[in-house]
Amino acid sequence: MGFVMAAAGSAVGVGNIWGFPTQVADHGGAAFLLVYLVMVVILAYPMLVAEMTIGRMAQKNPVAAMASLSDKPFWKRTGAIIGIAGIVTLSLIISFYAIISGWLLAFMLEPLAKLAGMNGLAHWLTSFSTSLNLFAMLAFMALTIHVVRAGVSNGIERWSKRLMPVMFVLLIGLVAYIMTLEGAEQGLIMYLKPDFSHFLEPSLLVNAMGQAFFSLSLGVCAIMVYGSYLSDKESLPKTAAMVAGLDTSVALLAGLLVIPAMTVAQANGVTIYAADGSLLEADTLVFTVLPALFNSMGAAGSVVSMAFFALMCIAALTSAISMLEAPVNTACEQLKSSRSQMSIVIGGAVSLVSAIIILNFESLFGLVVTLTTVYGQPMLAMLFGLMLTWVLRRDRLLKELKKGYPELEQSWFWKIWPWYVKFVCPVLMLFVLLK
Ligand code: PHE
Repeated sequence: MGFVMAAAGSAVGVGNIWGFPTQVADHGGAAFLLVYLVMVVILAYPMLVAEMTIGRMAQKNPVAAMASLSDKPFWKRTGAIIGIAGIVTLSLIISFYAIISGWLLAFMLEPLAKLAGMNGLAHWLTSFSTSLNLFAMLAFMALTIHVVRAGVSNGIERWSKRLMPVMFVLLIGLVAYIMTLEGAEQGLIMYLKPDFSHFLEPSLLVNAMGQAFFSLSLGVCAIMVYGSYLSDKESLPKTAAMVAGLDTSVALLAGLLVIPAMTVAQANGVTIYAADGSLLEADTLVFTVLPALFNSMGAAGSVVSMAFFALMCIAALTSAISMLEAPVNTACEQLKSSRSQMSIVIGGAVSLVSAIIILNFESLFGLVVTLTTVYGQPMLAMLFGLMLTWVLRRDRLLKELKKGYPELEQSWFWKIWPWYVKFVCPVLMLFVLLK
């Protein structure tokens, strides 16, 4: 259970509450939802098992783990290079993640500032200005560095275990509330009733695939590091199914909240789509629609707002920790340096890249998000899968997967999964990426 919670802590984050609903709103509602679910089942889940398997088998940092899949020098080097590419991509992901998480932090503090009568401060906290973006990003990075530096402390694990269920309940409560509001029905229809014309949109498949890989933290060594913490008593396919199930349920719930919140806002005169049907202010949409909803709740609204953003910050923090942990863990082992030093050096470098993105927000933010999540994560995850099924000896793979799953050889999983990852996944992914 501890592992499932930690892995779910990595998976459940900004991707579920910001990424998923934004993509749904941007790509035809239910059409995106449907394609997303298919992507989770046919591509992301098989790759989640692959990445967790590499981590648990190697019991080492990701670069060393990838190198350990073969004894041949060529494959050792290739594996290490893929591992390094994963770590670099992950570092870029943290740099945009910290910007969005900073907004969450600011939105959590806003009601407090208002309560204290500091209206100017409250206004600044929700301004998305460059100064706010820089300040909030640095605050969030400082928190992340602090936790990783101390080692993933008992504290944060224990707290995320307690608070994740609270977030779930709060989400359900908010969904129930939004359903009572004027205009919610339209959102529900948009979310659940597919408009088939959208299925032909060329960007739909590739965005749904990227979102699925981002949401499950795949292809960038974070899950590999966590896999190395998983006990031999657990079955890899079952544990991965639980993690994927939890993550997907939170995304589905968030969509059920945000999409109707959007149409409620629209019914109240807020413009959300431009004349050509494109989503306005896509990056910040969730941050305007949700507070509008909380405001409609009167005095209780500020409490709910604070609680909601606080829980979101925790979800973002548990994800960010899993991100920074991978490069720090690798640098500590490979360079034989101290965790404390590496957390600060790597965290500092990431903050610098993040600041560069903030200062060139219009040109860099979307670009970095697309390159790392839409292309980087699926391609790297595919390389992990290929190394595992083509380069690793099959008897070693069988032995690892049998741990915690003795009846594996009789299962349909073992009959399908290895050749599926070996032949079908790469073809499917190349088709989606090149289409
Ligand atoms: N899965 C996390 C989210 O949905 C983001 C993440 C990506 C975490 C990559 C770790 C590695 O917010």
